Amino acid sequence: MEKTNMNFRKKGLIGVISLAIILIGGFTMYQQLYKTASPTEPTEATSPATAFSHLSYYHEGNLERYNAYQEENQEMSVEDIVTHVNMGIDKEFYSEDPITVEDPDALTVLVNKVYAFPDNWEPTDLVVVDDFRGQSLRKEAAEAFQAFNAACNEQGFSIYVHSGYRSASFQQEIYDNMINTYGEEYTDKYISRPHQSEHQTGLSVDVSIDGMDYNDLASNPYYSWFYDHLADFGFILRYPENKEALTGYHYESWHIRYIGKEESRKVLDSGLTYDEYMARQ
Ligand code: DAL
Ligand code: ZN
Ligand code: ZN
Repeated sequence: MEKTNMNFRKKGLIGVISLAIILIGGFTMYQQLYKTASPTEPTEATSPATAFSHLSYYHEGNLERYNAYQEENQEMSVEDIVTHVNMGIDKEFYSEDPITVEDPDALTVLVNKVYAFPDNWEPTDLVVVDDFRGQSLRKEAAEAFQAFNAACNEQGFSIYVHSGYRSASFQQEIYDNMINTYGEEYTDKYISRPHQSEHQTGLSVDVSIDGMDYNDLASNPYYSWFYDHLADFGFILRYPENKEALTGYHYESWHIRYIGKEESRKVLDSGLTYDEYMARQ
């Protein structure tokens, strides 16, 4: 009786210990499994964000718009999807209030149909660059333009500032006159709305060569030399041919913009419009 009892107790104890070992072992295994399983659980890495998030110019806050824009443009590269949404051109031009630029004084400031100058902003370092036409530019742009002109002179031609700095109120006048004659749809392809014109930067020039009308600039025999050397003096062509959907404006062979030599070289090398380039910074 004693012995049997003893055996029974021993067996019971062994049973309890075995059970405990099985339970602990099982729990540890479960923990191990759970640990290895968690990284592959749906996170940003495997959600649709994967398609975009490797890009340096990906903004998490735009994810929903990237997805929606991709739905509508299934053949488009992920680079273009992210760029276009960052630019704000997933929305129709002027369909929303413009975004006010943060640093209007920056030589690299971007204004277009999406970005606008703050009310009452104007450059503080304007200098007269063309007495005859009464045109002004910001000092650094004026000096760059004069250096560019000196180089053009060596080639046998001169460049002039047909139109330089324009205040928001002057831009308003130009815009209103154009609307009265041609209507809004046409006007918006050629003329910026006030507070959204590159001419308000004081860094943009509508160029004319010698006595020619600026509209005919591209047909001037010196145009290709002029175009090829823009970046050497810190300028870019702001509204290139066949880029209307990106810049919002019809081709303007004559409208150049000063951004500084280092930046102009980078924009040229990128092969992008300035609007796209800035959306990738
Ligand atoms: N022509 C350019 C787009 C402007 O009006 O600023
Ligand atoms: Zn213009
Ligand atoms: Zn212009």
